[in-house]
Amino acid sequence: MKRKTAKSANMFRIALFVVFLGFCSGQMIIPPRPLGFVYGNGSNDAFIHLDAHFGPLCPDSKAALPNLKQVADYYGGMKLKLTLHMFPLPYHHQAYLAAVGGEVVSSLTDDNDTYMYIEEVYSNLEILSNDATSNMSSSDVMNTLGDLALACCGVDKARFLAATKIKAMETKARTAWKYSASRGIASTPTFLLNDVEVAADPTWTMAEWRQVIDPLVHGNFFKASFTSQNAGVAVWSGSCPAGTVKCEYLPEKVECCTKGEACIPNVGCRC
Ligand SMILES: *[C@@H]1O[C@H](CO)[C@@H](O)[C@H](O)[C@H]1NC(C)=O
Ligand SMILES: *[C@@H]1O[C@H](CO)[C@@H](O)[C@H](O)[C@H]1NC(C)=O
Ligand SMILES: *[C@@H]1O[C@H](CO)[C@@H](O)[C@H](O)[C@H]1NC(C)=O
Repeated sequence: MKRKTAKSANMFRIALFVVFLGFCSGQMIIPPRPLGFVYGNGSNDAFIHLDAHFGPLCPDSKAALPNLKQVADYYGGMKLKLTLHMFPLPYHHQAYLAAVGGEVVSSLTDDNDTYMYIEEVYSNLEILSNDATSNMSSSDVMNTLGDLALACCGVDKARFLAATKIKAMETKARTAWKYSASRGIASTPTFLLNDVEVAADPTWTMAEWRQVIDPLVHGNFFKASFTSQNAGVAVWSGSCPAGTVKCEYLPEKVECCTKGEACIPNVGCRC
């Protein structure tokens, strides 16, 4: 009898586990619109889609943003569409709340203001750090984010705080996170050009981005490897052994291709 009870308790545990699994895995949420915050006038018809997965409290993402905006301004929204995706990292404890705040600002204003909100948060990384917020409740942190939303974008604080309690805002931030995770994003910033990951450095300047993007825009991407003339940057000054050809497949990333290998941008020497 006793044994039977133990057995049914186990069955119950297994059933619970299965139910739990059902809630936590299963299908992805299909977003009603493409995800991410589009910069400026970025057009869906642009040849180049530059997607950046950013940590809302990540200093490296902060460092990359001004250059990305410069790149987007340089090409213009008809040629290049820049989209930021928020991928809050769990070890930046308040990052998820900051991402929810971004969804709220986006809903109450537009993507332009959302960029200003993201920048305002980056300007205040200190007050949102793990240490500075260690004694704060979630409401305290939301309150701080509300101050930032008011400062950057004139969002009424009471409206901001009320909106953070709407389930849809949390669902949006959650959907965005799951999307990034499903694309294999594991660190920030991660950059994708037309959906393919680029081994770009967060510190890449406009000139370095141009080295990669210009050949795509001008349609000669597969004809030539990058040369230092592409964007007026002086790079690699070494030389390749006889019988091989220098292949600068990304700014300052060089391989020497043997005969039969092709120099493939973003990849290197491959057959
Ligand atoms: C957003 O920014 C772009 C580029 O600066 C501007 O042209 C557009 O009018 C802005 N949109 C709104 C709604 O302010
Ligand atoms: C964005 O579009 C608006 C309206 O079409 C236009 O007036 C403005 O110049 C554009 N801004 C940029 C930065 O392209
Ligand atoms: C958090 O509370 C503890 C205990 O009261 C205190 O020692 C610590 O300095 C507080 N930290 C911050 C960042 O306020």
